[in-house]
Amino acid sequence: MLRFASRAFLFAGLLSIVDPAVAQTRREYLFDKNWKFTKGDVAGAADPAFKDAKWQTVSVPHDWAIYGPFSGTNDQQEVKIEQNQEQKASVKTGRTGGLPFIGTGWYRRRFTVPQFTAGQRALLLFDGAMSDAHVFVNGKEVGRWPYGYNSFSFDITPYLQASGENTLAVRLQNKSEASRWYPGAGLYRNVHLIVTEDVHIPVWGTYLTTPEINADFAKVKLITQVETPNKAFQPLRLETEIRDNAGQVVAKTSTSLAATDGLAFEQNLVVPKPKLWSPETPTLYTASSKLYAGDALKDEYNTPFGVRSFKFEAKRGFSLNGQPRKFKGVCNHHDLGMLGTAVNTAALRRQLALLKDMGCDAIRTSHNMPAPELVSLCDEMGFMLMVESFDEWKSPKVKNGYSQYFDEWSEKDLVNMVHRDRNHPSVIMWSIGNEVPDQSAPGGGKIAKRLQDIVHREDPTRPVTAGMDRIDDAINKNFASVLDIAGFNYKPMRYEMANDKLPQGFILGTETASTVSSRGVYKFPVEPAKQKKYPDNQSSSYDLEACVWSQTPDEEFVKQDDLGFVIGEFVWTGFDYLGEPTPYDEVWPSHSSYFGILDLAGLPKDRYYLYRAKWNTQQPTVHLLPHWTWPGREGQPTPVFCYTNVPTAELFVNGKSQGKQTKAPSDKPQSRYRLMWNDVKYEPGTIKVVAYDAQGKVVGEEEVKTAGKPHHVKLVADRTTLAADGQDLAFVTARVEDAQGNLCPEATNELQVSVKGQGSFRAIGNGDATSLELFHLPHMHAFHGELVAAVQTREQPGDVQVSVSGKGLKSATLRLQTAAAPAKANGSR
Ligand code: GAL
Repeated sequence: MLRFASRAFLFAGLLSIVDPAVAQTRREYLFDKNWKFTKGDVAGAADPAFKDAKWQTVSVPHDWAIYGPFSGTNDQQEVKIEQNQEQKASVKTGRTGGLPFIGTGWYRRRFTVPQFTAGQRALLLFDGAMSDAHVFVNGKEVGRWPYGYNSFSFDITPYLQASGENTLAVRLQNKSEASRWYPGAGLYRNVHLIVTEDVHIPVWGTYLTTPEINADFAKVKLITQVETPNKAFQPLRLETEIRDNAGQVVAKTSTSLAATDGLAFEQNLVVPKPKLWSPETPTLYTASSKLYAGDALKDEYNTPFGVRSFKFEAKRGFSLNGQPRKFKGVCNHHDLGMLGTAVNTAALRRQLALLKDMGCDAIRTSHNMPAPELVSLCDEMGFMLMVESFDEWKSPKVKNGYSQYFDEWSEKDLVNMVHRDRNHPSVIMWSIGNEVPDQSAPGGGKIAKRLQDIVHREDPTRPVTAGMDRIDDAINKNFASVLDIAGFNYKPMRYEMANDKLPQGFILGTETASTVSSRGVYKFPVEPAKQKKYPDNQSSSYDLEACVWSQTPDEEFVKQDDLGFVIGEFVWTGFDYLGEPTPYDEVWPSHSSYFGILDLAGLPKDRYYLYRAKWNTQQPTVHLLPHWTWPGREGQPTPVFCYTNVPTAELFVNGKSQGKQTKAPSDKPQSRYRLMWNDVKYEPGTIKVVAYDAQGKVVGEEEVKTAGKPHHVKLVADRTTLAADGQDLAFVTARVEDAQGNLCPEATNELQVSVKGQGSFRAIGNGDATSLELFHLPHMHAFHGELVAAVQTREQPGDVQVSVSGKGLKSATLRLQTAAAPAKANGSR
């Protein structure tokens, strides 16, 4: 079936009117525009007659809190963070981002269901709503879903006016002290209305597995649930075709439902000479099913899938399609920096493209269910996913966290998580929790077993893990031994001990490193440090600073490289995120993290190249740090590091050799992964490295020059051809450069963004964790010479001009083009 892009429909005023030419058995409407929103609790807001004209008109996905203002008193928390080894409670200011997400919000939207006839079904599917959603149709409550990260649906047929206007109202509420990071607020993911015939395939109604795969064929088993009026048996027929990624039919079958089948079809098909899915070859197939009652077509449903096999084996570790490999993964939170939590496919795609170039092949959706768009992009772009469910079970970490819902909701939340995502080839494992204090509690292992059993019941094909931090309790209290995969957070020094004591025969680094740094910031003297704080609330990009519980990247690398039973790592984190500004949790105005390999604006920090040098085995990496504009440091020691995938390099300062360095194991893990010239004395001019491969051949060079005064703005877009769909985004990096085109690494110029033509300014960010400038206003100060503006397309194709100016700087203009987006067939829901 086709998933209609919203532009297949004409949205007139508040009503959606269907184009009869494209009316089908199954119709899906994206409720993206024409919502009314207000913050605060409002009596009678669910009532269809309620007057909402004065409310704000918004589009969904919508994050009501990202517009600020920031304040250290928003969700200020006085807590002792046990997993951070804190001994006493203290006041945390920016822990959840300092944004105004606490409180109640209401959304309302009017809609019609065109050509809705007796017997048809209508349901609402929410990809996620933050949080504690109460959903009302025509004044009646149709359902509730507390956990803000999960997807959920309600059948609204009994509440619907078949002809005429309906009113949907959603009440959301966020409590204080309910999160350890910025959760976002509102209808931050998509909302869909799905209309089907009486006999239909329910939401997430297929389960596709590939029980046998070899070079000649792959067996495909497709279970399709059906729903009928009163759940009564009917003689139905399901026709399924499998298409390859070129759209060619490669297998088909037709199956009749027998009374003994219950209300589920089982179909077994064979794909000849399957093309295997992997991060390097993300080949997809689609199973397209048509459901018939007699000759009447009742439903059409698409299930995209991939053909791949994997194993987790004692001693051999992890293998994908028979090839042993280790996860080169990152943990990410769900916010998109300057966009807040409002999901956007282009923003996710940009993140994944940056991670791909780094050589990353896996993502842990810490610590909750991801947006469905992320999972589909991982299928398409080639990332292995650990889909995670919870940060809390029964024992709380924060006063009003998930623990209060755990008993009643954990099973329902796990079932929805697994049902929604179990057909995706990118999903390789499920995580039932992160650092749950229940690791130490009596009965913690039993809870782990119960949750794992639920996940196995719903999906016997994937293993279950959890991120454990209390390693001794987890091992001694039979918690870790229950899990299919023992995952440890920040325990590289204890992997061997854990592996000796546990039955699985392999260990995963579910969370690693937590090195802290700020893009463009270098602190002297250069030395390893824990919890190091500076008066400017920044951390050094020499990548030697971590937390008391965490490490530098190299300390983890050593164990990943030396211990065969370690099956990979998920670095904390790929991108900086809103909230958790460790080591400045108590020092406003810090309000976003310093852990990211890339900053909050998506700009790579130096660490990006340290990981790229190790993980991207296809392209050369030669990266030099720090910048070389240090007026006042003349003659002072200013160490120079090179992150490269080659073993040796020679450094020159103004043409004078500083000697060759070669990576070599030593008691300092860094000496194995970085080339470091620690005694270089600063003099303005040029630093240059010449990189040599193992045979001594020159394979690359890199230069950094002392910059002069800020002179002009330079613009670089991640993409210049975009879809004219009103959603697509270009991320335009503005750099303050000197007359010669060198980045001015200390520039803080305020830059103004103006967008003309078929695009509009959407958001701005500079990656500074202490900046209180707002993301939705078209001006901001550069942080270490750079910032990023997101430019959104309109629905009319055409040219877009993006101009960025700053006082005393020559401004710059960049042209983007937008083109009508082809309608895309997606999976059904
Ligand atoms: C871990 C935790 C993460 C994050 C991280 C920071 O303990 O699982 O959510 O808080 O520490 O290092």
